[in-house]
Amino acid sequence: MSLMIDCRNVIKIYYNRTKKIKIAALRGVELKVKKGKIVAIVGPSGAGKSTLLKILGALEFPSSGTVHVAGKLLNTFSDSQIIDYHRNWVGFVWQAPLRNVLTSEKALNNVFLPMRIAGKIPQSKQKERAKELLQAVGLGHRMNHKPSQLSGGEIQRLGIATALANDPKILLMDEPTGELDSETTAEIFTLLSELNNYFDKTIVIVSHDHYLEKKADVVYHISDGLLLNIDIARTFELDSSKEQVSYMDEFGLVRIPLSFIKELGIQNYVKIRRTTDRIEILPHIQEAVSEITLEETRKKDSKRKSSPKKKRR
Ligand SMILES: Nc1ncnc2c1ncn2[C@@H]1O[C@H](COP(=O)(O)OP(=O)(O)OP(=O)(O)O)[C@@H](O)[C@H]1O
Ligand SMILES: [Mg+2]
Repeated sequence: MSLMIDCRNVIKIYYNRTKKIKIAALRGVELKVKKGKIVAIVGPSGAGKSTLLKILGALEFPSSGTVHVAGKLLNTFSDSQIIDYHRNWVGFVWQAPLRNVLTSEKALNNVFLPMRIAGKIPQSKQKERAKELLQAVGLGHRMNHKPSQLSGGEIQRLGIATALANDPKILLMDEPTGELDSETTAEIFTLLSELNNYFDKTIVIVSHDHYLEKKADVVYHISDGLLLNIDIARTFELDSSKEQVSYMDEFGLVRIPLSFIKELGIQNYVKIRRTTDRIEILPHIQEAVSEITLEETRKKDSKRKSSPKKKRR
């Protein structure tokens, strides 16, 4: 099965210029998604979920690393390629139901208008397709209702039908059930599985809701801007307070949990020690300091040599 999404070492740094601080929202994300799969990315607030989704949707771009979707490198997209990508490749569903729909339009028009604007689906088929999609999401009996006449769960169903209007290959969903009760959440996920089977879409859902883990084909945890496939994590026996699994890429780059770095007060330099059966990473502040001092001494030395000597009186 071919890869639909392939992210390698994706780093996203936000700069707050006024406060002069850097925030590493993603710290080296590796993600491979096969075509037609439902992937759940679950993690706490601030972990980088929305940032990753926006990067997959070409709404934001990585600071470094590569993002391929269906073999296309998103990093180098021109403005016209971004428009084409948004029109033909991705559909979005956001957390707030009302963000996904036009409140002034009835359900049928909500699904029909994106087709009309994009002009990708033949005009003669647009109305018929809108009706089919509304039926597929269970809103066949609500076609002429406006969002104000629908429940939260129904509006989110309408949002899903709207996101599918132009037949995208990938559906990106940011906390799609965040504002719904548990029963409606279960219904939406059952619907997503059905849609996934029926329309053969690749679906990426991010959420803090662990419920999602039971519903997806592949599950990743995200924390501090790092992803971990839970099936791989389960193959390790871990003492969760002291141990974490981390990915090492082909160049030997390892992602170290931020909490570990902070707890040990490590900055810049570490000592890496190889023993017979392991590699240890040790804080080694003293060595770092002495190296800087050495460098400064060298600089001072070379300055002294190059400046003309003062005459002694
Ligand atoms: N435009 C931005 N400018 C500066 N920092 C940002 C920006 N967007 C996100 N961040 C920061 O990046 C980190 C990850 O944010 P992100 O929105 O991806 O988290 P999240 O997992 O979606 O959280 P939530 O569950 O609360 O939606 C956070 O520390 C956030 O404050
Ligand atoms: Mg978010």
